Amino acid sequence: MKYDTRFPSIADLKTRAKKRIPNFAFDYVDGGIDDEHGKRRNREAWHEVEIVPRYLTDVTSADKTTRIFNHDYALPIGIPPIGLGNMMWPGAEMALAGAAQKNNIPYILSTFSTTPLEEIAKAAPDVCWFQLYVPQQVEVMKDLLGRVKNAGFNALVVTLDIPVGAKRNRELKNGLKLPFSFTPNIVWQSMIHPTWAMQTLAHGQPDFVNVLQYKEGPNEGLATFITNFAMHGVTRERIEMIRDMWDGPLILKGVQYDQDFRDALDIGVDGVVVSNHGGRQLDAAPASADSLRNVAVEIGARMTVMVDSGIRTGMDVIRARALGAEMTFSGRSFFWGMGAMGTGGAEQVIEIYRDEIDRTLKQVGCGSYAEMDRSWLK
Ligand code: LAC
Repeated sequence: MKYDTRFPSIADLKTRAKKRIPNFAFDYVDGGIDDEHGKRRNREAWHEVEIVPRYLTDVTSADKTTRIFNHDYALPIGIPPIGLGNMMWPGAEMALAGAAQKNNIPYILSTFSTTPLEEIAKAAPDVCWFQLYVPQQVEVMKDLLGRVKNAGFNALVVTLDIPVGAKRNRELKNGLKLPFSFTPNIVWQSMIHPTWAMQTLAHGQPDFVNVLQYKEGPNEGLATFITNFAMHGVTRERIEMIRDMWDGPLILKGVQYDQDFRDALDIGVDGVVVSNHGGRQLDAAPASADSLRNVAVEIGARMTVMVDSGIRTGMDVIRARALGAEMTFSGRSFFWGMGAMGTGGAEQVIEIYRDEIDRTLKQVGCGSYAEMDRSWLK
């Protein structure tokens, strides 16, 4: 096997990450909103998708590639945007970008990343996409999009599902702010995780480097920052403006509602990520597997449908394909890899998925990811 079998699954990486990094970093990634029922529902809904295996077939090989936006990606799993990436492990974002480029899978850099977007584009020239939190001020948006275009990002992903900063109880209790406020919890947690702390000292404290130049005022929690920076509800007019400014693939992330899919088509958007933001915004949101199941076939035929929220295994990736997805993403998987193993964790996660996707396709008797469709569902 091409991965360390002491941590053969994403769940094992999570257990290890929890021990190895401070609680405020772990909780930031792991946490959902309110009581975190939505986050749990995401996982349960994937578990409920049943695939009927077909035997009497030669499965010596299984083609795991997926072609989207005129690019053949090697695997149907990508790295979605996660804010504060280098807080999970110093250097995480560059390591993820490098591993994505080497393995030919998409890497979506968050607006709230902690590595300059220009550096990421150099490390992952063929596979980097940029995630945009739409700034309230049009001038700021134009400036940011100009930088993204100049840097050479291959696609733009506009997140729709943060009309308001989320109240995440774990973040509030941990007092998470950037740069760090040295509260007793932050100091203590750093002391009891000395490897993380030493590397963070060497690397420099994580901060919102891509948007600092547009920011006013003292350091703050992420929810406050988002509330001050991003539009309170991205309007259709703003997406139309972005469509005029961005001629590459344009993707809307966080889509769940029927009419939103139809509007996206109408505006001329190229793809959507069906998502409930990993259960981080609305505890009552439907599970992403259920939202994906409800996407009309004719919508899927006219744009690239992708999905995230709750994907943790290669089996889940195949389930998502059976429901209609052409690409899947799992932020927590990659960050558990980072937390558990440091920058080497990126390859570990990719190899776990490669192996699980391969085995699942062969086990169900399907010669390629592209062929898997709703006819395999129970
Ligand atoms: C979050 C934002 C940054 O979920 O996407 O924390």
